[in-house]
Amino acid sequence: MYNSKIIGLGKYLPDNVVTNDDLSKLMDTNDAWIQERTGIKERRWIKEGSKDTSAVMGAKAAKIAIDRAGLTKDDIDFIVFATLSPDYYFPGCGVQIQDMLEMPTIGALDVRNQCSGFVYAISVADQFIKTGMYKNILVIGAEYHSNGLDKTTRGRGVTVIFGDGAGACVLTREEDLSKGILSTHLHSEGQYADKLMVKSPSIAHWVPEILEAKGEDISYFPYMDGQFVFKNAVVRFSEVIMEGLLKNGLKKDDIDMLIPHQANLRIAQFIQKKFGLSDDQVYNNITKYGNTTAASVVIALTEAWEDGKIKSGDHVVLAAFGSGFTWASAIIKW
Ligand code: UT7
Repeated sequence: MYNSKIIGLGKYLPDNVVTNDDLSKLMDTNDAWIQERTGIKERRWIKEGSKDTSAVMGAKAAKIAIDRAGLTKDDIDFIVFATLSPDYYFPGCGVQIQDMLEMPTIGALDVRNQCSGFVYAISVADQFIKTGMYKNILVIGAEYHSNGLDKTTRGRGVTVIFGDGAGACVLTREEDLSKGILSTHLHSEGQYADKLMVKSPSIAHWVPEILEAKGEDISYFPYMDGQFVFKNAVVRFSEVIMEGLLKNGLKKDDIDMLIPHQANLRIAQFIQKKFGLSDDQVYNNITKYGNTTAASVVIALTEAWEDGKIKSGDHVVLAAFGSGFTWASAIIKW
């Protein structure tokens, strides 16, 4: 029996910065509304003509994470890839990483859990490492949202929030069971699937429909009941963080760094207040990148680590909530 620990982190964000003012040229929105409601100042959107996709960005972040782990691609035993915006309906992005990084024919698994995708993904990796089945696992979260958003006023309640980007980490065995990932906590509530979803394309709404109806049929664009999602988010974030603390006999004061899914600065601030945490104990970068869904927690974790905000022995808490609904947390002793 082992624990797993993170030994390498990497991120990749497209260069193209899209400000709130840029969006106000496409739709009826404005910088004041977006900043007041979400905290977002700008996001990265892949530029037209770029070769970046979720898999391509994921591969770029993965190379950095593997390198920082002091490993090579041939040391990786398994790939877990979390995204809601895969390059193809099938196969998933995991197999593309195996090919792009010219890895041996190791297993590759895709996780489809949207905003909580990365936390689910490291939980899956953690189980494989705990049982001894694999030693080194590459976990990636990446999203290419911008090409699938409704960039008219009709879509403004959703479109202004989302950004593109990728993050990756390498997990390995930790023999000291008091260190590494101490526990993970996963939940779902499918009755609210339609509160935040893309309905089409799917097997039920297939290609001819897209060709004929795109532009008229809004089911091709993400839909979100923002207020409903917000209300559920603040409750579920709190619950799942508390669940993790209780499981490990920890108190609110023991949190050294909380990395929340970057959905909305107001949600993060609510959680920060509820847990009595200072600004130094919560990492936010939504102002720069918007909501990058399955990539957001790992990009934020990478940046917090790069900025020297995470030290050996720290209790780091990851928490996420999103479409499904699904929500999850991970308690890590760094
Ligand atoms: O990451 C996955 C999980 N997602 C979340 O956790 C997101 C949770 N929800 C939210 O973050 C917020 O609900 C939003 C940021 C999406 C929206 O903020 P809100 O304060 O709930 O605004 P609202 O939807 O109630 O809209 C208020 C007004 C509406 O106008 P009326 O009906 O009051 O006249 C909207 O039409 O703001 C209007 N509006 C906008 N105005 C300017 C909506 N989007 C925009 C916009 N620019 N981009």
